[in-house]
Amino acid sequence: MKNIIVTGGSGFIGSNLVNYLIKKRYFVINLDKLTYASNKYHNKIRNKRNYKLIKIDINNKNKLFKIIKRHKPLVIFNLAAETHVDRSIDGPENFIKTNINGTFNLLESLRLLQKKNIRPKLVHISTDEVYGDIKNGRSDEFYQYQPSSPYSASKAGADHLVKSYIRTYKLNAVISNCCNNYGPYQFPEKLIPKMISNIFNNKELPVYAKGQNSREWIHVFDHCEALFTLYLKGKNGESYNVGSGTNLKNIDLVKKLLKVCKSMGIRIGKKTKIKFVKDRPGHDFRYALNSKKILKKLKWKPKIYFEKGLKETVIWYLKNKNFIKNIPRANYLKRLGLKL
Ligand SMILES: NC(=O)c1ccc[n+]([C@@H]2O[C@H](COP(=O)([O-])OP(=O)(O)OC[C@H]3O[C@@H](n4cnc5c(N)ncnc54)[C@H](O)[C@@H]3O)[C@@H](O)[C@H]2O)c1
Repeated sequence: MKNIIVTGGSGFIGSNLVNYLIKKRYFVINLDKLTYASNKYHNKIRNKRNYKLIKIDINNKNKLFKIIKRHKPLVIFNLAAETHVDRSIDGPENFIKTNINGTFNLLESLRLLQKKNIRPKLVHISTDEVYGDIKNGRSDEFYQYQPSSPYSASKAGADHLVKSYIRTYKLNAVISNCCNNYGPYQFPEKLIPKMISNIFNNKELPVYAKGQNSREWIHVFDHCEALFTLYLKGKNGESYNVGSGTNLKNIDLVKKLLKVCKSMGIRIGKKTKIKFVKDRPGHDFRYALNSKKILKKLKWKPKIYFEKGLKETVIWYLKNKNFIKNIPRANYLKRLGLKL
C-alpha cells in the first residue's frame, strides 16, 4: 500500500480528503494538532486499516522530519491551517505561527529530505482570498496578491515561501488556490453550516452588513478530486485556481438555503429570520476565480451543481446531527472579529 500524508486531515476539507484517499486504497497518515476546528466525529474512522492519525503541531520540526522520513509518502497534501477570518482579526498570531511558520517547517523538512533522496510531491492548499477584492472580472493565476485580512495575508505569505522553495531548491510542489468550499464536516462557525444549524434550532440567521458580499462556492468533493488531479498531473512549480464559476451574494445563498430546507419539509421556526449584523472589518466584497487553467490543462472540472450539492449537504447535517452536537457551543456561537 502506498503512503500519503495529509496535514490538517481532521479539519473540514482534510476529513473529506482522507475519506477520498482511503477509498482509493492509499495508506493515509493524518498529521493534525487537533485544534478546536478539528472534528472528533470524523476520528471514528481511526480504526481503519489504512489510516493513521498522529497528533502533531506542524511547527514541531524534528517530529515532522522524522515522520516524513519514516513513511516516505508519495505526496503530502498540506491543509493544516488556522482558517477563520474573524478569528484572525481578534488574534492574528496563531495564523502566522501555523500558516506561515508551519508551512516553513514543512518546506525545511522537504528541503533536507531531498538530500536523502526522499522527494514527495507537495500539494500546498491555498485560497482565492490571497487575490483580495475582485470588483470586476475573475482573477487568474497571474493576478497580483492583495490579501486583506491577517488570514489571507498569512496564506499569501505561505504561498510565497512555497514558490521560493520551488525556484531556489527545486522542490517538487504545486499550489491550489480554491474558492469557498461547502459540504460534510464543516465547522459551524462558517456560513453554510452555521445557517443550517440555526435553521434546525429555530435561531436567527445573522448576515454581515446587507449580505451583498459575493463568494464562489464549490462542493468539497469536487475540491478533493481537484487536489488529487494536482498530485497526479499538476506541473511542478505551478499554481492552479480551483473554482466552480458559481458566485452568489451571501443574502441570496441564505435565501436559497431556506428554500431548499422548506422544499425538504424542514420546519422553519418563528425565530428563524434573516438578521443583518455589523460587518466584518476589512470585509472583501467579492472573490471570483478564473479556473480555465485546471479545466484546460488538467481536464478537471467540478461535477456537483450548487443546488444539488446544497440539498445533499442539508441532508448530511440532518443525518449527522451529532457532528454539531459534539462541538462545544462556545466554540462557534459567539460573534468574533469585531475587536479593533
Ligand atoms: N474551507 C474553505 O472554504 C477553504 C477554501 C479555500 C482554501 N482553504 C484552505 O484549505 C485548508 C483547509 O481548510 P479547512 O476549511 O478544512 O480548515 P479547518 O479549519 O476546518 O481545519 C484545519 C485543520 O488544521 C489543523 N491544524 C491547525 N493548526 C495546526 C498545526 N499547527 N499543526 C497541525 N494541524 C493543525 C486543525 O486541527 C484542523 O483539523 C486551509 O489551508 C484553508 O486555508 C479552505
